[in-house]
Amino acid sequence: MNNRAHPFLCPSRFYPILLIVGLFLMITILFLNDSNSVRSLKNSISRIKLPDPFPAVNLKEYKIKTYRGYVSMDELNENVFKKFGYEITRPTYPVPTVRMINEPTCEEVFFAWQKISEQPQPKFPPKTIPAERMNEFLLYNYTALSDWYINDKNSEKGEKPRNWENLSELIKWPRAKLGGLAYGSDGVSIYDAMHAYRLDGKSGVVIGSMQPWVEVSALQSGASKVLTVEYNKLTIQEEFRDRMSSILPIDFVKNWRDYAGTFDFAASFSSIEHSGLGRYGDPVDPLGDLREMLKIKCVLKPGGLLFIGFPLGTDSIQYNAHRIYGSIRLAMMMYGFEWLDTFSGDKEEANDLTSDRLHSKPIFGQIQNTLVLRKL
Ligand SMILES: *[C@@H]1O[C@H](CO)[C@@H](O)[C@H](O)[C@H]1NC(C)=O
Ligand SMILES: *[C@@H]1O[C@H](CO)[C@@H](O)[C@H](O)[C@H]1NC(C)=O
Repeated sequence: MNNRAHPFLCPSRFYPILLIVGLFLMITILFLNDSNSVRSLKNSISRIKLPDPFPAVNLKEYKIKTYRGYVSMDELNENVFKKFGYEITRPTYPVPTVRMINEPTCEEVFFAWQKISEQPQPKFPPKTIPAERMNEFLLYNYTALSDWYINDKNSEKGEKPRNWENLSELIKWPRAKLGGLAYGSDGVSIYDAMHAYRLDGKSGVVIGSMQPWVEVSALQSGASKVLTVEYNKLTIQEEFRDRMSSILPIDFVKNWRDYAGTFDFAASFSSIEHSGLGRYGDPVDPLGDLREMLKIKCVLKPGGLLFIGFPLGTDSIQYNAHRIYGSIRLAMMMYGFEWLDTFSGDKEEANDLTSDRLHSKPIFGQIQNTLVLRKL
C-alpha cells in the first residue's frame, strides 16, 4: 500500500548508495564542464586555493633531484629555503611552491639594489667566489660548482648592441628568423610565448637586451609600448621612438616609484642568470638574480605577465659565466608568481616543463625555455 502510494520512494537502506552515486555524478559533471583534457584537469586542481602553509603533508616524503642525488623537500626546507628566508608551502613538482617569510617592501628592494650597485668595484671581475659568500652562492652546498671564467667588463671584443636602427626591417621578420636572431631556436620560445599570450595594447618592460628581438616580438604581438632596461646606451630607429625607449638600470632604480605597478608585462631572456656574478663588471652578489625577480614583481601590475628565459637544468653554477636553474633556485625565483606555461621553441605550442625535461641533461647541461609567469 505504502509502496504504491509513493512508487518512486526507495527503501531507506539505499540512501547511502544514492548519496555516493549523486556525489560521483556531481564531481564528474564539474570536471567535464571544465574541460575533457588531462591538462585542464591538472590546472583546475592546481587552481584550488589550498591553505597556507599546506597542512598534513610530510615533506620528508617528497624528493627532488639535486647534483647530490634525490633530497627530501624537508631537508631543503631546513638547509636552504629557510636560510634564504623562504619556506615550502606546497610540495609541487618539478618546482616546490615557496613563500617568503618576511617579504621586503619595494622600497627596501630598490634601496638595497642601489646600495650594492654603488659599491666600488675591482678592476677585473673576481676569478673565484669570495669565501664568505660561498654558502650563499652554492645554496649551502646543494648547487654544483665548476669554473668558467669570462671577463666581459674589460674586453674589447665584448658583444655590442646591434640592430636597434634596423627595426623597420625586423618588424617584418617571421617567427624563426626574428625569434632566432640571438639565441637560435631557444630564443624562438619567447616569440611563441608572446604569441600564445597576446599583448594587444599592453605596455611592458624588457630587462637586458643587446638585440631588439624580444622587443620586436612584443610589438608583433600587439604591444603598444616597450621600455628596455639595458647597461648599454641604445640608439633606437627614429620611427620607433613613439613605441620604444631605453633606460640605464641605475636610472630605472632611482626612479622606481614612477614605474611601480605600471607594466602589463615584463620580459627577459638570457640575462638574469648573470646578475651578481661580476662577469659584466656588476657587483658580486649571491642574491643578484633573486633581487631582479623582486624588482620585476614591483613594477608589474597585479596579474601582469612575466616572460622569462634562463638556463634550466639541475641546480648549478659555472662561475662566473652563469647559473643553471634547477628545482631549488627556481622555487625562490618564482615566489610571488603563478606559473602559467613553458615554451621550448621547437614547437609553437606550450611544452610542459616536467621533472624529466628539467633534469634531462647531465649536471652543467642546460636547456633555455621561456616560462610564462603571472604576478599574484
Ligand atoms: C659546504 O662545503 C664546504 C667544503 O666542503 C664546507 O667547508 C662548508 O662548511 C659546507 N657548508 C655547509 C653549509 O655545509
Ligand atoms: C642592419 O642590418 C644589416 C643587415 O641586414 C647589417 O649589415 C647592419 O649592420 C645593421 N645595422 C645596425 C646598425 O645594426
